[in-house]
Amino acid sequence: MPVPVILDCDPGHDDAFNILLAAAHPAIDLLALTTVAGNQTLEKTTLNARRVCAVAGIRGVPIAAGRDRPLHGARRTAENIHGDSGLDGPGFGEGEPDVPQDPRDALTLIRDTLLAHPEPVTLVPTGPLTNIAALLLAHPGLAGRIRRIVMMGGSTGRGNTTPAAEFNVLCDPEAADIVLRSGLPVTMFGLNATHQVRATPEVVARIAALGTPLSALCVELLTFFGSAYREVYGFDAPPLHDPLTVAHLIDPSLVELVRAAVTVELHGTYTRGATVVDLHGVTGLPAAVEVGTRVDTDRFWDLVVEAVRVLGGGPGPR
Ligand code: BDR
Ligand code: CA
Repeated sequence: MPVPVILDCDPGHDDAFNILLAAAHPAIDLLALTTVAGNQTLEKTTLNARRVCAVAGIRGVPIAAGRDRPLHGARRTAENIHGDSGLDGPGFGEGEPDVPQDPRDALTLIRDTLLAHPEPVTLVPTGPLTNIAALLLAHPGLAGRIRRIVMMGGSTGRGNTTPAAEFNVLCDPEAADIVLRSGLPVTMFGLNATHQVRATPEVVARIAALGTPLSALCVELLTFFGSAYREVYGFDAPPLHDPLTVAHLIDPSLVELVRAAVTVELHGTYTRGATVVDLHGVTGLPAAVEVGTRVDTDRFWDLVVEAVRVLGGGPGPR
């Protein structure tokens, strides 16, 4: 049986590939897409989710907009990485994408979807955790309808937006704290795992070789993402963070997991938003979170390339 999933995202180049992977793979039943302010404003991330679905022919998956700012503090965006549109690189054209926005807000769409589905559903947040935390605060009774939370965020080591903090957690540390302390099963893929999956020139060439309009668009996305990562971090190739979440749901053996206590630094002068991951069990706190560690990168890229092929109608199987 496919895994029923709601993606909560802030597209974002890597979020876009996660949408493709979730929509393309038969092991995933993509029930809904919700958006949050993160890589760009809510207006832009919502438009981008619709754009990605339109170009990839993903229809019938409701898309609803959620929170436009964190629970506390000021909003931040990542236009140094994702550009002014949040999805810079390809020309999407000026017109409206022919995939509608659901009139419900994200929390209502998630609630309705959880209540309508016969089985508990997996939530996959790949942006700031504002929507998920707000849902848990507003509807505590829905916890039983949530099978687990599989998130991209945090790190077992250093950050990317400050020396200590990763972007998604830093955008809304209080929300991440609520999610991690919710008592729900949480699996966290942080930078220590996602920095292993880099879109090298070989990967980009494999996608280009599919020769479809969708593959050409994906190459444009990766080219922009790659130049941003080169400029900002000096990386040879950009890490495609978010699809590690859905890749794990498709193939649980793809990433090794360890159990650890994970807490969020909410007050540090220089460390607000850092995830403190107790890999050695020294705090005595319960090892409640599954944390991604070593990734089988070849199999990861096989899944991503295959998703672009399936949705683009390209030649295959390889
Ligand atoms: C995370 O931040 C965003 O820029 C990416 O989409 C990813 O979710 C990586 O820190
Ligand atoms: Ca993201």
